[in-house]
Amino acid sequence: MKKLTSETLRQLYLQFFKSKGHAVIPSASLIPENDPTVLFTTAGMHPLVPYLLGEKHPAGNRLCDVQKCVRTGDIDEVGDSSHCTFFEMLGNWSLGDYFKEKMIPWSFEFLTSPEYLGIPVKDIAVTCFAGDKDCPKDEESAKLWRECGILPENIYFLPKSGNWWGPAGTTGPCGPDTEMHVIRNHAEADKLGEYDFEKAPAGTFLEIWNDVFMQYNKTAEGSYEPLRQKNVDTGMGLERTLCILNGKSSVYETDIFEKAIQSIEKLTGRKYGESEEITRAFRVVLDHVRTATFMLGDVKGIAPSNTDQGYILRRIIRRAVRFGRNIGLPQGSLSKISATIIDKYAEVYPELVKNSGRVYEELEKEENKFSKTLQQGIREFDKVVSALPAGGVIDGVTAFHLYDTYGFPVEITGEMAREKGMTVDAKGYEAAYAEHQAKSRAGSEQKFACGLADHKELTTNLHTATHLLHAALKKVCSPDIEQRGSNITEERLRFDFNFARKLTPEEVAEVERLINEQISLDIPVVMREMTLEQAKAEGFTGLFESKYGEKVKTYSIGEFSKEICGGPHAEKTGLLGKFKIAKQENVSAGVKRIKAILTK
Ligand code: ALA
Repeated sequence: MKKLTSETLRQLYLQFFKSKGHAVIPSASLIPENDPTVLFTTAGMHPLVPYLLGEKHPAGNRLCDVQKCVRTGDIDEVGDSSHCTFFEMLGNWSLGDYFKEKMIPWSFEFLTSPEYLGIPVKDIAVTCFAGDKDCPKDEESAKLWRECGILPENIYFLPKSGNWWGPAGTTGPCGPDTEMHVIRNHAEADKLGEYDFEKAPAGTFLEIWNDVFMQYNKTAEGSYEPLRQKNVDTGMGLERTLCILNGKSSVYETDIFEKAIQSIEKLTGRKYGESEEITRAFRVVLDHVRTATFMLGDVKGIAPSNTDQGYILRRIIRRAVRFGRNIGLPQGSLSKISATIIDKYAEVYPELVKNSGRVYEELEKEENKFSKTLQQGIREFDKVVSALPAGGVIDGVTAFHLYDTYGFPVEITGEMAREKGMTVDAKGYEAAYAEHQAKSRAGSEQKFACGLADHKELTTNLHTATHLLHAALKKVCSPDIEQRGSNITEERLRFDFNFARKLTPEEVAEVERLINEQISLDIPVVMREMTLEQAKAEGFTGLFESKYGEKVKTYSIGEFSKEICGGPHAEKTGLLGKFKIAKQENVSAGVKRIKAILTK
């Protein structure tokens, strides 16, 4: 097995798939575009859903990339050897081009060839789909693996629970997969029959790669319809693979965190690995500062707030501060640790360098804010806990008080309670919050839990309305207006833009009038592909940094609106109904927000 650094592994992966005719596309933003049901990009396939469903990708039908991903479902587990809230996924895709017959031999070649990962064939186990009423047993993959040279006793079959991937949400593209594992314990592996994979003790196999054969679309009714095209979607976790290849016991011991660990050691005088507790605190700080750095440094950079992505970011930073305290991390350290992280990723993600000022500033602001109340809050917490019996429950009103007065996100209070063998009355907290705010965070929790949405008509229409709004704001308010963020649910669009003040009632009326005029003219929305240079020359606007490869998609609505964008859009503006600005908000001094709706 080859020992590799993160830089070399990324490079080898992309180089391999380039040699197989794939276009290398840049990582998309961590904030999904026009996806109301999920807060962050969770897998390499996530930004590619429209293309897996049949839309044409401007870079072709063979793609590969390294995608930034965030999964925060297991945030409380961070601190053990494997969980991270941020990770990079190496992936390649066939959009209706090749299928198993090519992907499996390529996977074999990449894993075993001395030029690439050089894993001995006898150390590789694979699992294939066992078959059920929705889809037959995947004998074809097993046969292809055998033909490559995988030992027949190292081929296993698993049901849907193990060998099926997707949809990322409740509906969407999905299919059987075949997963590749490195065998760490041959004695245990040898005892297993072909259906016994899951009976192996933990640590027998380490998963390294997943090839998904996406040939179904799961519908809202729960049935599996064949997709128009058969796709391949693969994913290899960068950190995990590095850890396995280098024989490390945790992802935190790979080259990725080396400098950041040294920085924490210098700031605290403690040693990573000194004790279990210290190591856990180091890991929480490392993971959370890295995730916060990527969120703040994203091309659609977000800031800590009390809702949606901003709330998750706030919670992550505050959890890092709390664990940092346990190892004596002085106030103001997070931005210093973040600097070592930006340095490590500078070449792969230049947006981090470009946005480093904002990253440090927001980290410092949030750290200072929370540090002011942390000590007092802990004292208050201790008081509450000491008055409760063993195994007691902290009531919702108290948990809300800890949040409202001392800035403790309820999840942090919950974690502190668990450390004392207690719990928090989560329902009571929600009720107290709802009463106080007259709205609860339930909406964002729901988004957090589930996945991708269909590109339904409503959201598509709102997306087209977003382009009209962007253009109208430029005409009515200032030609310098640029998009700073966009989010669409089935009810409304939300558009953030750079502007110093709220719009006057006259400006609001004029923006609405212009947009409704474009709607009444029933103008076709025209998509054209062209090079980025040509698009810029023709006056198309867009977030250039994060766009795909050489060719880009452009959408124009007559001469009124011209944007570089991945789509999808309504065919004609006449489908949109009536446009209305529902609300204006202040995001920060220079950034304003408009929420708008479409009615019949
Ligand atoms: N989408 C697949 C995964 O995330 C490759 O594992």
